[in-house]
Amino acid sequence: MAPVTDDDLAALAALRAEVEACTLCGLHATRTRAVPGEGDPSSDLMFVGEAPGYHEDQQGRPFVGQAGKLLEQLLASIGLTREQVFIANVLKSRPPNNRDPRPEEIAACQPYLWRQIGLIKPKVICTLGNHATKLLTGSPAGITRVHGRPQATEISGHSLYLYPIFHPAAALYTPAMLTTLHEDFRRLPEMLAHAAPQAGAAERPAEQPEPPTADSRAAPAHAAGDAPVVTHADEAEAPPVKPEQLGLF
Ligand code: URA
Repeated sequence: MAPVTDDDLAALAALRAEVEACTLCGLHATRTRAVPGEGDPSSDLMFVGEAPGYHEDQQGRPFVGQAGKLLEQLLASIGLTREQVFIANVLKSRPPNNRDPRPEEIAACQPYLWRQIGLIKPKVICTLGNHATKLLTGSPAGITRVHGRPQATEISGHSLYLYPIFHPAAALYTPAMLTTLHEDFRRLPEMLAHAAPQAGAAERPAEQPEPPTADSRAAPAHAAGDAPVVTHADEAEAPPVKPEQLGLF
């Protein structure tokens, strides 16, 4: 577990208050409550979903509807409760009628997520579904292609593994997806036990043949608001790191 200082806790509380009062995009006008995220700020494991739905918007808490019930079952299957992990979303406000997040909404909300990651410092972030996966990997490769394959990266100066998995809401009514989601989930405990990505271990963009120099590493590659380190334009050109390559399995 990453040690969380009193300063980190104060910064998280301040961030929560900022999110609750946020008017950076048009969604503030239609939301009931903002949903900053919740859980154990010292957890090694973080989940990032897409955006609050109806129930989340009513309660101001992430994953409290049907998808949340499935997420809790999945966590129980590996001996965890939702209180032992940190759960957040790409968007902190509900899009009307649960429509897809718009690029300008994602851009407005991204710094909040990056700050949360920098304070929580998880070893592993499970990105749930396409929107979270594409934002955090910085790649257009979709969840069907990249699920279940950890990718080393660096966010807000912190090295971690992204672990894309299907979104529980999508898996609820698609039995084959549900089976895959359970399988991918089962690999999490081993990953958490071994995941300790070193600074600079993040996967390099395909077009960058040499390891970065000391100078190029000096500035955080993924500081708040910056583009992610993992930037393959197409999975076919630069497939995600396989677990075997990371020595995780
Ligand atoms: N789906 C999400 O992506 N996030 C939530 O908080 C709830 C459902």
